[in-house]
Amino acid sequence: MEVDVSKIEPGQLLRVEWRGKPVWIVRRNQATLDDLAKHDNKLRDPDSAEPQQPEYAQNAYRSIKPELFVAVGLCTHLGCSPTYLPDSFGEQVQGITSGFFCPCHGSKFDMAGRVFQGVPAPLNLVIPPYYYVNDTSILVG
Ligand code: FES
Repeated sequence: MEVDVSKIEPGQLLRVEWRGKPVWIVRRNQATLDDLAKHDNKLRDPDSAEPQQPEYAQNAYRSIKPELFVAVGLCTHLGCSPTYLPDSFGEQVQGITSGFFCPCHGSKFDMAGRVFQGVPAPLNLVIPPYYYVNDTSILVG
């Protein structure tokens, strides 16, 4: 499925559907990218060990281009859909102020979908296969 990503504002999350699953596309700003570089010692799955993760999910930003995050929007614990908290968890959580919170059992993921230690979800959010068709569009799947 081809998605025009040119109109996604910094901080905005666009939801699309791929193979019956929600896929999120988030444009991250520079402050978010700076935050992501700081926190890899608090992560439960720092290497994105899940074998189905594409190679480009294994860098700190877990994306092809740092600014654009593309992920399947389902918690890796039991599949609930986490809530996007672009500004805050309400307090600083393990050094970050934004990310994704799963309301079912409290798993927390940073803005690269990396799961924190001490929560039920065992793995980072899944990154679907995608590639850039051109500067303004990606193809998911
Ligand atoms: Fe997300 Fe259990 S389904 S924490």
